[in-house]
Amino acid sequence: MYIVVVQNLPKILLPYICVAKYYLTCQCTLDSMDDILQQASLTNIILRLPKMEKLLILLIIVIGFASASMRIERSIDLSAAHSLISDSKLPGEITPNNYTIDLRPNIEESTFSGKIKIILTWQEPTNQITLHAAHDLEIAESDIKLSKIGMDETIHHDSTKENYPKEITIRRVDRMIKKPCLVIHLQNALKQGTVAELEIDFNGQIWETSEGMFKGSYPDNGGEKKNYLATHMRPNFARRLFPCFDEPSYKVPFIVSIARPKNYTTLFNTPVKSSDEIEDNYVIDHFEKTLPMSTFTFGFVTSQLALLNRTDFSDPHLKKLCIRVYARPELHSDLDKTRVYERIEKSLLSIKTYLGADFPLEKLDVVALPSFSTVKPADNWGLIVYKESEMLQNSYYLIAQELVYQWLGAWATPYWWSDSHINKAIAGFLSAQTAIELDGGAEFEGKWPMTILYSIYYEFSKRYPHSRITGMKQETICSKTELVLRMLNFTLGADTFRKGLQKFFVDREFKTFFADDVWEALTKQAHLDNKLCPNVTVGAIATSWIQKDRIPTVSVIRNYEKKTAKLSQKVYLRERPHDVPEQDKMLWWIPIITITEDKMDFDNRTPKLWMKKVKEVEIKDLPSADKFIIVNPEEIGPFPVNYDEKNWNLLSLYLQTPKGRETIPVYTRAKLLHDAWNLAYAGQLSFATAFNMTLFMKSERDHLVWNPVFTMIDHIGRHIDMSNVHKKFETYVRTMLTPLYEELGPEGDENEENWRRNLRSLSKTFLCRAGYKPCIEEAQVEYKKWMESPSPDEGNPVANQYICPVFKWGTMEEWEFGLHRVINFPSSRKQNERTYLLKTLAGCPNHSDKILRLLNITILEQNANFTENDIFLIFSMLSGGSSGYTTLFNFLQDNWEAIKIKFTNKTNLWDSLISTATGVFTTQEGYDMVKQLYVQRQGEFGSAEHIIEKSLKNIKEETKWSDENLPVIEK
Ligand SMILES: *[C@@H]1O[C@H](CO)[C@@H](O)[C@H](O)[C@H]1NC(C)=O
Ligand SMILES: *[C@@H]1O[C@H](CO)[C@@H](O)[C@H](O)[C@H]1NC(C)=O
Ligand SMILES: *[C@@H]1O[C@H](CO)[C@@H](O)[C@H](O)[C@H]1NC(C)=O
Repeated sequence: MYIVVVQNLPKILLPYICVAKYYLTCQCTLDSMDDILQQASLTNIILRLPKMEKLLILLIIVIGFASASMRIERSIDLSAAHSLISDSKLPGEITPNNYTIDLRPNIEESTFSGKIKIILTWQEPTNQITLHAAHDLEIAESDIKLSKIGMDETIHHDSTKENYPKEITIRRVDRMIKKPCLVIHLQNALKQGTVAELEIDFNGQIWETSEGMFKGSYPDNGGEKKNYLATHMRPNFARRLFPCFDEPSYKVPFIVSIARPKNYTTLFNTPVKSSDEIEDNYVIDHFEKTLPMSTFTFGFVTSQLALLNRTDFSDPHLKKLCIRVYARPELHSDLDKTRVYERIEKSLLSIKTYLGADFPLEKLDVVALPSFSTVKPADNWGLIVYKESEMLQNSYYLIAQELVYQWLGAWATPYWWSDSHINKAIAGFLSAQTAIELDGGAEFEGKWPMTILYSIYYEFSKRYPHSRITGMKQETICSKTELVLRMLNFTLGADTFRKGLQKFFVDREFKTFFADDVWEALTKQAHLDNKLCPNVTVGAIATSWIQKDRIPTVSVIRNYEKKTAKLSQKVYLRERPHDVPEQDKMLWWIPIITITEDKMDFDNRTPKLWMKKVKEVEIKDLPSADKFIIVNPEEIGPFPVNYDEKNWNLLSLYLQTPKGRETIPVYTRAKLLHDAWNLAYAGQLSFATAFNMTLFMKSERDHLVWNPVFTMIDHIGRHIDMSNVHKKFETYVRTMLTPLYEELGPEGDENEENWRRNLRSLSKTFLCRAGYKPCIEEAQVEYKKWMESPSPDEGNPVANQYICPVFKWGTMEEWEFGLHRVINFPSSRKQNERTYLLKTLAGCPNHSDKILRLLNITILEQNANFTENDIFLIFSMLSGGSSGYTTLFNFLQDNWEAIKIKFTNKTNLWDSLISTATGVFTTQEGYDMVKQLYVQRQGEFGSAEHIIEKSLKNIKEETKWSDENLPVIEK
C-alpha cells in the first residue's frame, strides 16, 4: 500500500479525488468520501492506494483541475472512465488482417523484447501507416520493414497488374509527442487493396503496475519470493506491449509465441501447440492461432501457480470444454471449499443456455492471481484473471459476470467504448439472473435490484444529479440501463427478451456492435411475438429512459364513480427547489401494469398500456370504490407512483391486515412504503398519508421492507431536527422500532444470517438515536469500564457503537472524560481512533453546553492539541444536527470580534464556519436569526459574504417546506 498526500488542494477538486478513488476501487461512496474528508480535512487528502493508481489519481486531478478552472458548470461530461480512454481514433485507411507476435520477456531483469508481423490491407490509398505504440515501448525504427505481398481483389480490382517493388521504401518514422502513436511515412502512396507485411522489433520494461505486461510476486509456502508475469490490456494497454491497432473494432487472429523460464507455465488465450528450448533455461511456447479478437482481450500469465485438481463437479454437457483453475497451492483447499469448478461450470451452462450459443473456445483458464490490484478482473478471452479474494468469495455473480464478457465483449464486441455501457448493463443483468437462478438470490439477500434502484431514485431526483461525484455518472447510467433491461424483460416477456438477445448475439459474433443493434434485435423479436405495436421500437422506449439523467414519477388519480383513473407523468424531483429547466419537455415511455384488489395476480407483468411519451392517459374498468389498485408492482419500471389519498388509505388499511401482508409481495410492500415517504418528502403527498402507510410496520418483519425506512427516518429526522415536532418524531420512531428490535433478540452466533444481524444493528442504532432507554443504559455501563480504567489513554475498551449514545444522552462528566481522551491522545496510537472520538464528541451531543465547551477550547483558547483540520472536522460534524449548528450560530454571534481576529488570514476556516453556522436552518425562526446577523454585520463577512447570502436563499426554500409539513407531521 502507498499513501498519497496532496496538500493544500483547492476545494473545488475534491470531487475528482473521489472520481479517481471510485474509478479505481469502486469503493468511494458518498459516505466513504465524507469519511475521507473527515479523517483528513478539506485541504489535506490522504489516500491509501497502490502506486500506479497514485499516478492515475494525479492524472485525474490534473484533468479535474483543467475542467474546473474552465468553469464548466456540470463538470466533465465524459466520465473519468471515458476521458481516460478518449483516444485519438486511428484513421481507418489501413486495417490489420492478423498479427504474428514473438515475445521474449526476461523476468529477472524486468525487460522484454519482441517482434511483430502485421499483415495490413489498404482500405484507402495512403502513404502513411498509423499504429498505437505507448511511449515507453522502444521501437527499432530503422529496422522497420514493409513488403508488399499482394492485392486484395475484393477491395480493388487492379486491371493494370502493375508490378510494385516487393520492398517498400520507408521515408520516415515518427513517434508523436502527444499521442501514443507511431506513424510510418512511405515514399509513395500505396493503392487501395494493397496487402503488405509490416515487421517491427521492439523492447520494453516490465512494470509492476497492473497495466500492459506487469510483474508481481508472492511468498510461497517456505516464505520464498515467487515472481509471475501477467497482462491487463483493458481498455487500451496492449500498446504498451506491442505496436498494434489498439481499438476494440479491429478483430483479427493472433499467432503468438511467448518465452518463459523452464520451470514456469504460460497460460494464454489459446492452448500451447508446441514448445522449443531456447538459450539459458528458457523455453518458447507456440500457441494455437486465436479466433478473431480485439487487442483488449489479449492476455497471458507466466507463473508457477498450480492447477487446482477437480474434485467436485463435472457436467457432461461441458465435455468438450477444458476448464482449469490455477492458484497458489496454499489456496487450493480453500478454493475447493468454495466449489469453484462447480460454480464456473454451472454459471457457464446457464449463460450458454440463455444465449443459445456454445462457449466459443475449447479451453477456459481461470487464475487466482496473488497481489493483483485492478478494479475488475482481467477478462482475456479464454483466460480470466481474478484477485485471490474475489475467487474465494462464494459468489456466482462475480463468476457469471466475467463469463458473460467471454461472449459479449470478446465474441461480440462493442464497437467503441461509448457502446460498452450497454454491454456492461447486459452483463450485469445476465449475471444477476444467473446468480439468482443458481442459488435463489441468497447471495444478494434479495437485495437485487433494490440496492441499485434506491440509489438511482436518490441520485436522479437531485437538483443536480452526479454533481458531487462525476465518476459515478457512468456507473449510474449502467445501473439504470440494467434496470431498463429488467423492465423490458418483464414487459416484453422473458421469452421474447431472451430470443431477441440470442438473435442479436448470433448476428454479431466475431463482429462489433452498437447499442442500437441490441434494441433492433429486441424490436424485431417483439414484433414477431406480437409484444409491441408495429410502429413502436424498443430503441424508442429504451432511449427515453437512458438519455436523460432523470426518472419520471406517475401519479394516479382515480374517479371512483366512473371506475376510471387519470395517470400523469412528470419528472421525479425530491430535493427542493424543483426548478429544473425544461422539465415539461421530459417524457418517457412508461409501461402501466396494474394490480387490483379484486384480482391480485402479481405474476402478470403485461402492461395494460404504455404511456407513449404523453403527459396523461386514462385507464378504465377499475374495481369498485372500496378496492385499491397498485400501479407498477414489484418495481417493474424504475419509477415511483403516487395515488390519490383514498387509494393510499385503502392500501394502508389492507396492509395492516395479516392477509394483506401475505398477498402483497415483499418488493411491492417495500415500494409502497418507499414511494409514500419519498413523495411526502418531495412535497407531493401529505405526510399524514405517508405516516399512515407505516402503520403496518408494527408487524412487518422482512428486512427488505425495512430497508427504506431507516433512510427515511434519517432524512426526515434531520430535516425536522430543529422543530418542536422532533421529540414526537423520536417517540414515533421508538414505537415503530421497539417491537422489531425486541423480537430480533440478542446477537446470534456466527451462523446467523447477515440480513438479521444488519437489521438488528440498524434498528439498535436508530433506537439509540431516538433515546431508547435500555440502549442508553447499556452504553453507559460499557463506557464506565473505560472511565474506571487505571490508564484510559492506552486504549479504548468501549465498542464504537456505545460512544455516540453516551455523548448524546449521557452526563457532562462522561462527555468531558471523552474530551480529555482526545486532548491526551498518545501519538503512538492509531490516529483514526482519535478522529472517531472527536467526531462523536462534536456530532453526537444534544446539549449546547457540551458543544460550547468544545468551541471555546478549540477556537477561543486555541488549545494546542487541536489542529486546523480538527476544527474543520468539528464544523462538518456540527452541520449534522440542529443543536450543533444552532450552538455554533450563537457562539459566532456572541464572540464575533474575537473569532474574526483568530480567523484573520484563515479564510477557509472562516468560510466553513459561516457556511455551517448559517446554512442548515430549515425554519422561519432560523431564517430570522440568520437574517438579523446578516443585517447587523453587513460588510463584515469578507470572503463569506456570498455564502451567507446563499444560506438565506436556501433557508427560505426549506422554510416553505417546514411551514407546510411540520403541522401535519405533528398532528
Ligand atoms: C494472415 O493474413 C494473410 C492475408 O490475409 C493470410 O494470407 C495469412 O495466411 C494469415 N496468416 C495466418 C497465420 O492466418
Ligand atoms: C526455476 O529456474 C530458475 C533458473 O532457471 C531457478 O533459479 C529457480 O530456482 C527455479 N525454481 C524452481 C522452483 O525450480
Ligand atoms: C492432483 O492430481 C494429480 C493426479 O491425479 C496428483 O498427482 C496430485 O498430487 C494432485 N494434487 C493435489 C494437490 O491434490
